[in-house]
Amino acid sequence: MNLDSFIAGLPKAELHIHIEGSLEPEMAFALARRNRVSIPFPTVEALRDAYSFSRLQDFLDIYYQGAQVLLTEEDFHDLALAYFDQAAADGVVHAEMFFDPQTHTARGVPFQVVADGLLAGMAAAKAKHGVSSKLILCFLRHLPEDDAFATLKAAEPWLDRIAGVGLDSSELGHPPENFARVFAAAGDIGLKRVAHAGEEGPPAYVVQALDVLHVDRLDHGNRALEDDALTARLAREAMTLTVCPLSNHKLCVVDDLADHPIARMLRLGLRATINSDDPAFFGGYINANYRAVTDLLTREDLITLARNSFLGSFLGPEDIARHVAAVDAFATRAK
Ligand code: HPA
Ligand code: ZN
Repeated sequence: MNLDSFIAGLPKAELHIHIEGSLEPEMAFALARRNRVSIPFPTVEALRDAYSFSRLQDFLDIYYQGAQVLLTEEDFHDLALAYFDQAAADGVVHAEMFFDPQTHTARGVPFQVVADGLLAGMAAAKAKHGVSSKLILCFLRHLPEDDAFATLKAAEPWLDRIAGVGLDSSELGHPPENFARVFAAAGDIGLKRVAHAGEEGPPAYVVQALDVLHVDRLDHGNRALEDDALTARLAREAMTLTVCPLSNHKLCVVDDLADHPIARMLRLGLRATINSDDPAFFGGYINANYRAVTDLLTREDLITLARNSFLGSFLGPEDIARHVAAVDAFATRAK
């Protein structure tokens, strides 16, 4: 079996996908038309041409602007289902999906519209593709912690359908420790905790995510590799890293995909996974992210990455064991 077919056939979980980052330009234009709002670009091509970034903030500016076409429950349903159509075609059987409620509530779109729309899309994906999923509510770190508390409060009626909280948006200047209290409150409610750290921010931010936010999983984590003791700790603690190769390249976290640290991470014993982050903006869904770094990896590495995606998920032990067995069965069949 050739490598692309092997990647496509591997059962996988996706653990780092911002649902707003799966808004393709075509859908942005379709929703703008449906909702009678305007987009400051003349064509789909012009919008896609604007997807050129030299740092995280360049991307975030256009990502938040794009989200403005999302207004109704149907929009959020359609967005989620379109992502799952792509993910299922890529062999994703489980996804843990970030959403950014503050991006929408700040524009007057109620939390209820966002949450119910996404949950309806997730249910439709389960029925259509058999793909299971969980929701992770992200706090925007460029906003004050009080806003994050207000968001957690607004989420109260949905907390039985939300697996955890995350932390995203502009990393530099917004360290994890600024969100210590809201993460503690989320932990007290029984929510899982994850945070973006070490994408642009220094290793100290990764340490704060571990020691102050008590994360169950680390998003990106690339810059942890600058600190040998921290790297050894992450390996010892079997901390899952949700790594996003195409994002890292598009946002200049790595200069060259040939130098991407994914293989080094595996050699150092880190539980790394491969994910798409914001696939509509960074040039591809999960299999494109695997393909972007296959030159650095062995087939055994690809199997490890797929196994890690389930081991690092928030599924229960029986589901994890079932999915890992499916990865192993595929690997044996595909030899
Ligand atoms: N980093 C921080 N915030 C984000 C990202 C990211 O990669 N994608 C969407 N919001
Ligand atoms: Zn991200």
